[in-house]
Amino acid sequence: MDFDPTSSIVILTGAGISVESGLETFRDRNGLWAKVDHREVATPEGFAHNPVKVHDFYNKRRRQLRDTLPNAAHHALARLEGAWRGDFLLVTQNVDDLHESAGSRKLIHMHGELNSALCGACGLRGPWKTDMSTYSRCPHCETVGQMRPDIVWFSEMPYQMDRIYRALAKADLFVAIGTSGNVYPAAQFVEEASANGARTVEINLDVSDNTQMFNEVIRGPASKMVPDYVDRLLADA
Ligand code: APR
Repeated sequence: MDFDPTSSIVILTGAGISVESGLETFRDRNGLWAKVDHREVATPEGFAHNPVKVHDFYNKRRRQLRDTLPNAAHHALARLEGAWRGDFLLVTQNVDDLHESAGSRKLIHMHGELNSALCGACGLRGPWKTDMSTYSRCPHCETVGQMRPDIVWFSEMPYQMDRIYRALAKADLFVAIGTSGNVYPAAQFVEEASANGARTVEINLDVSDNTQMFNEVIRGPASKMVPDYVDRLLADA
């Protein structure tokens, strides 16, 4: 693998990278969407209809993070970021905090974060690590009852898309890890990178929906395949 150490890397991660840390995926057999209807807890309509149910769903997942640790795959990506001399951007669809816990800094949470809150009254986004409810008060505008999880729900616009597309436009290498390639716009990033001349690699446990778009597919668990891949990239750099 001959990657010039000044070349530019964009990495996309999905729920699969956090499975070996104990977090569930969405679309696997025992995934979150097999247990709860995403329309009820991951859409603006669902929140408007039953905010208590939505707060409950995200409070449980936020609490779960407190005892969840990054695995070897998260640490390998932080190591790659620290050692890479070219441009590097990690885009995650995940709302957990495992990439930052492992030390990643050049990181975009395109679907938001469990440990962040959004005020429906003033638009403030800010850290929130405790339970949230319909009685929660905005620390900025003091409005009560308008706080929501800072999660990008279906039909909402993901965060920092301009910055992501600018990085994809100049990427020499695009790697997708632990994502089923089911949800847009993230599922289309491989095409974007490829059209701009990047080499594209998928690291995933099962066959994803867009696996045929990748130049190279590495099949297996992230905690094993990602460190191995990072070692190969750095050995040749
Ligand atoms: N190592 C690598 N990949 C794994 C592992 C593992 N240990 N375990 C599971 N996977 C793979 C599965 O094969 C699957 O392809 O992770 C992928 C998880 O797919 P999804 O559950 O669809 O999760 P993701 O692709 O992140 O979903 C994207 O959909 O519901 C929305 O907003 C939500 O961010 C989420 C988005």
